[in-house]
Amino acid sequence: MTASTVVVVAVLAILLQVSLQGWIVGAATTHVVGGSTGWTIPPNNTFYPDWASSQTFLVGDILQFNFETGMHDVVAVTKSGYDACDSNGQIASPVTSGPASIPLSSAGEHYYLCGITGHCSAGQKLAVSVVSSTPDSGDAPSPSSGGGSSPPSGSAGALVAPPSLVAVGLSLLLVNINNALR
Ligand SMILES: *[C@@H]1O[C@H](CO)[C@@H](O)[C@H](O)[C@H]1NC(C)=O
Repeated sequence: MTASTVVVVAVLAILLQVSLQGWIVGAATTHVVGGSTGWTIPPNNTFYPDWASSQTFLVGDILQFNFETGMHDVVAVTKSGYDACDSNGQIASPVTSGPASIPLSSAGEHYYLCGITGHCSAGQKLAVSVVSSTPDSGDAPSPSSGGGSSPPSGSAGALVAPPSLVAVGLSLLLVNINNALR
């Protein structure tokens, strides 16, 4: 290898690393609950449902509840806890320090409320519907018949493919540059 080839390889390696990092970081979205209003007693009871319906929540995304410690808290609850504003329906320890970042680690409905007396019934509660990956609209044929040992589908492949394509592209580019330098 000539010195210039070494430099080119180093630059490409850095570019590949940056693009991979960008891909990984880009895969998770942080949703700031209530936007600039944050996590507080809302102006009306449709405020948090309206906010939630403006978002797409994917597994691995993060809910960020912005509030002042001591003024509010975040309690993950069951649906019945959410419906009744009953924090006895809690399914995890209340998070009392703000701001709080709570990962959405599974698909399905997730429910949260503020456990401070009177806040939930004034509308400070949140229901989010989390989906497992970017919508593939569910019309792909399911390979679930038989076996039972097939690997989990979808998100893993979606995450792996683009960096592989980047690597292949960079390899081809490197070969071309090598040829040009000879
Ligand atoms: C609830 O409050 C938000 C924010 O002030 C407002 O945009 C929305 O129109 C209100 N909804 C109703 C039904 O009043």
